Amino acid sequence: MKVRDRLNNSLPRTPVSSPTNTPFAYHAGELYCEGVPAATIAEAVGTPVYVYSQSDVVSRARSYLDTAAEAVGPAALICYAVKANANPTILQLLREAGTGADVTSGGELFLALYAGIDPHKIIFSGVGKKPAEIAEALIAGIRAIHVESEMELLAVAEEAERLDIIAPVGVRVNPNISAETHPYISTGLHGHKFGVPRERAVAMLRSAASHPYLRPVGLASHIGSQITDLDPFGQAVRFLVKLADEMKNEGIALDYIDAGGGLGIDYDGPAPNAADWIRAIAPIVSAGGYGLVVEPGRSIVGRSGALLTQVVYTKEQGEKRFVITDAGMTDLIRPTLYQAYHPILPVTVNDRPTEIVDIVGPICESSDFLAQNRALPPVERGDLLAVLHAGAYGYAMSSNYNGRLRPAEVMVAGDSFRVIRERQTYEALL
Ligand code: LLP
Repeated sequence: MKVRDRLNNSLPRTPVSSPTNTPFAYHAGELYCEGVPAATIAEAVGTPVYVYSQSDVVSRARSYLDTAAEAVGPAALICYAVKANANPTILQLLREAGTGADVTSGGELFLALYAGIDPHKIIFSGVGKKPAEIAEALIAGIRAIHVESEMELLAVAEEAERLDIIAPVGVRVNPNISAETHPYISTGLHGHKFGVPRERAVAMLRSAASHPYLRPVGLASHIGSQITDLDPFGQAVRFLVKLADEMKNEGIALDYIDAGGGLGIDYDGPAPNAADWIRAIAPIVSAGGYGLVVEPGRSIVGRSGALLTQVVYTKEQGEKRFVITDAGMTDLIRPTLYQAYHPILPVTVNDRPTEIVDIVGPICESSDFLAQNRALPPVERGDLLAVLHAGAYGYAMSSNYNGRLRPAEVMVAGDSFRVIRERQTYEALL
């Protein structure tokens, strides 16, 4: 299906009704996050601003923790994928709830440790870890470094020997499983840069087992992101368990299977919830006698956050009606980069008939849009809009392009809210 068709097909039928499965809801015609009107936050902090619901973040993390504990007991570890949203307050809330972290750089490792996450609950993933980052992870004593190539395994061995620390390693396997999602966020096929094919994983585990400074502890895969079908996850996990069993027969006993992250959310269609996902994969893993690790990002924080933005101008041009907002691709790049659909609601209900508009930002690119061909009630200069389901890969992917300042971030808890990251000031541009 063409992108344009997809966007048109997914037009919200009732754009001003309360959306479901989000902490943002209308009360008396005004959009609230928990007990706080969105307009109050915009007035106090300015726009654009990311607003998160504390209870939503915590309850989604708890759902993972509780279901995994039920399904596999203490051998379960939920490693929140820090890349989805690395705000220190969010990391602290997740640490208090009991999650660990999946990190992908020295910077994310620093943030996870800063938030107080137990190093034994931290996994380090990614294809290009530099020796200095590997050393930081070894010194911190993290649960495992997941290696994605023979060269990287060698680099880990070198750093481990230099530091005289035995390195726990997992191998990320590329299971060659296709999951339906946007091609930029699909990762489980042999043509992708991620992981290694089966035979090479076996060779790497054998060489780790025979190295005095390496200890093989796990097998991992991550087949992609925003996946809403549970089947490919089941296939990947069965593949990993079979491989781990074969290694066991050779005398290489692994502690855990890491099923990666990737569970999608309901941006514009149904998605399974965390419990469904865990219940689909956990029995396969525990039947093999392994611990279960998962690395969810989006499915914990995606729905917890919205981007509030103000209409700067409107204009008509050619066949189009443009709503120009003070947020754009520098604040939320997902629509531009993946043609992603985010529900967008007026902060104050307006029940005039909808019109079809492009909601665009102030950046000098035609690709700078939050939505195209979207049904929206008429809005005017100064009105506020809320871009929902923006808690994951929103602020995390923001940039200073066009001299734009990264937005503020606010956490709502019940009837109160606090700024958890100040809006950048011009000095940040120097
Ligand atoms: N583990 C690994 C090794 C990953 O690479 C990722 C995401 C995750 C876990 C978490 O996946 P999640 O549960 O959030 O789907 N910027 C894109 C998403 C890129 C995901 C990259 N890796 C987006 O906005 O859709």
